[in-house]
Amino acid sequence: MRGQITLLEPVPVELGPGAWHMPGRALAKAGGLLDAIAEVIRDVPLRQMLTPGGRRICAPMTNCGRLGWISDRRGYRYSAEDPLTGRPWPPMPELVAQLARQLAGEAGYAGFEPDACLVNAYRPGMRMGLHQDRDEADMSQPIVSVSLGLPAVFLWGGLRRGDKARRVTLAHGDALVFGGESRMCFHGIAPVARGRHPKTGELRYNLTLRRAAA
Ligand code: SIN
Ligand code: FE2
Repeated sequence: MRGQITLLEPVPVELGPGAWHMPGRALAKAGGLLDAIAEVIRDVPLRQMLTPGGRRICAPMTNCGRLGWISDRRGYRYSAEDPLTGRPWPPMPELVAQLARQLAGEAGYAGFEPDACLVNAYRPGMRMGLHQDRDEADMSQPIVSVSLGLPAVFLWGGLRRGDKARRVTLAHGDALVFGGESRMCFHGIAPVARGRHPKTGELRYNLTLRRAAA
């Protein structure tokens, strides 16, 4: 098509020091990842969590792995149990852990071992406000994020809340890794546009893989 460039092997794009957008890097594993998500959601359903201020977080979430990120009136934190049942979260599927190690390694973070996987599910119109990931014990560990289904615009800001955010489209199978000097950068998701994806319908999934405990 005129005016469009198609790269057969998309190359990683450095968004900032230690922050990489890896277009299509998880595409080969997308089917297995979606199966893994379906299994997790059957076990520990997606739910809308409350912020400490009492507002509802837009996108429903759940977790797998030893620790899960939760939010309620008592604050943002990691918990080894699903607050809905008091039972441990389901284990992190090896496919997911293995992909996270590999992507982190490619971005320069050798030895990354995730213990927490947050699953976010966005329907059109849902968004995630600009925030920092700051509930983890060791900030020298990176964040690995994988996008599946409907595309979304990732807002990539700076170290201060007011810094202008760059807009990066995350498509099905894209990965992001950020750590080092960019570990505390503000980031978020613009409202997801209406659409239908052949694999997920009207949904965008995001897996955020983190090392929560020291
Ligand atoms: C997040 O940073 O919490 C989620 C980002 C995303 O959905 O891609
Ligand atoms: Fe985040």
